[in-house]
Amino acid sequence: MARAHWGCCPWLVLLCACAWGHTKPVDLGGQDVRNCSTNPPYLPVTVVNTTMSLTALRQQMQTQNLSAYIIPGTDAHMNKYIGQHDERRAWITGFTGSAGTAVVTMKKAAVWTDSRYWTQAERQMDCNWELHKEVGTTPIVTWLLTEIPAGGRVGFDPFLLSIDTWESYDLALQGSNRQLVSITTNLVDLVWGSERPPVPNQPIYALQEAFTGDSVSPVSFPTCSNAGPGCYSVGGKLHHQRYQSSGLQTLACT
Ligand SMILES: *[C@@H]1O[C@H](CO)[C@@H](O)[C@H](O)[C@H]1NC(C)=O
Ligand SMILES: *[C@@H]1O[C@H](CO)[C@@H](O)[C@H](O)[C@H]1NC(C)=O
Ligand SMILES: *[C@@H]1O[C@H](CO)[C@@H](O)[C@H](O)[C@H]1NC(C)=O
Repeated sequence: MARAHWGCCPWLVLLCACAWGHTKPVDLGGQDVRNCSTNPPYLPVTVVNTTMSLTALRQQMQTQNLSAYIIPGTDAHMNKYIGQHDERRAWITGFTGSAGTAVVTMKKAAVWTDSRYWTQAERQMDCNWELHKEVGTTPIVTWLLTEIPAGGRVGFDPFLLSIDTWESYDLALQGSNRQLVSITTNLVDLVWGSERPPVPNQPIYALQEAFTGDSVSPVSFPTCSNAGPGCYSVGGKLHHQRYQSSGLQTLACT
């Protein structure tokens, strides 16, 4: 019964998924944002207390001899809207906006995000976190240079930085006597432990053109002569399998 219900409305499931991923800026509703300059700080109920997870993360950083650790808001596929399993930045900061990078040092923690999320960040982050109303790697590196000592090591998860982003951090740090250090074990995951949501296991499917509004035209796959993923041989000729808007298709390699 339930199955038939969802089966007839795959678009509804999709809409829900999109609504979940599209975190909208939260309505301010008067003054219900944090105020870290009062004593004690004023924290709305929407704030997450990150004191314990930050302490645990700094212990992991110490083990790796890091002065700072970069926590991007993306997953290993550079997606913008990501599964809860990959919401590392949201988990460690409390801030759930779809854009934003966090950096933690031994003494401070900070988030950089754009104007869509400034209010939301002030409603979700506790006073462990500075909010920087800027984007891009340059302001992050400028801050890092003031916060970490010469010789400091800046850790990052190589699966979560694109080559372009890595290059931009690397370039900005050149000659500063601070070093970017790739650590393949994600330190937030170590702290998250058994509370971390599992990898989603729902079946994947191709969206119909009626929903995407566009189609993907068949393309040739010159690299599939290397028999990479999706490639297989039929009658001595290489083929490549991929999803088109009309479903799974098999394309002969050129
Ligand atoms: C925070 O509190 C201080 C002291 O009461 C006040 O001057 C300031 O305007 C408040 N800031 C915000 C953003 O409400
Ligand atoms: C946050 O959690 C820590 C550790 O459990 C606790 O000491 C602290 O009082 C909490 N902070 C607030 C503002 O509730
Ligand atoms: C840790 O890093 C510092 C530079 O910040 C370096 O001087 C020191 O030798 C390193 N220690 C270890 C145990 O790797």
